[in-house]
Amino acid sequence: MIDEKRLIEIANEARKNSYAPYSNYKVGAALLCKDGSIITGCNIENCSFTVGICAERTAFSKAISEGKKDFQAIAIVGNTVDLPTPPCGACRQFMSEFVEGDFEIIEASPDGKYVTRTMSELLPDQFSL
Ligand code: THU
Repeated sequence: MIDEKRLIEIANEARKNSYAPYSNYKVGAALLCKDGSIITGCNIENCSFTVGICAERTAFSKAISEGKKDFQAIAIVGNTVDLPTPPCGACRQFMSEFVEGDFEIIEASPDGKYVTRTMSELLPDQFSL
């Protein structure tokens, strides 16, 4: 059983570390690994705009580089009250490399509203080699 509310709280905490001086859109993520560990991420922007990275890809990059291989769920918290933040298209493709279709993506707002989708719902026709 995934404790969705706790994962959202942790993502919201990670959001405080967001570096987003250009968009002012702060995003936090909390990635739940199947071994029970939770790896956080935030978006990190850059004055060379395209070099910036989303919160989800920060979390996955940290996890993969630490040897994590199996993932259960990710919570994403953006700026917008009342409106849960869905992962962007690039993050959907990035995450799909490392997860199964039933991986849960919890799209949340800072005031705790959320909707849960699976990887296969958000990216039904994934590119793969
Ligand atoms: N952003 C994320 O961190 N995750 C997403 O899935 C959507 C977009 C960030 C990127 C950029 O720093 C800011 O939100 C505005 O687009």
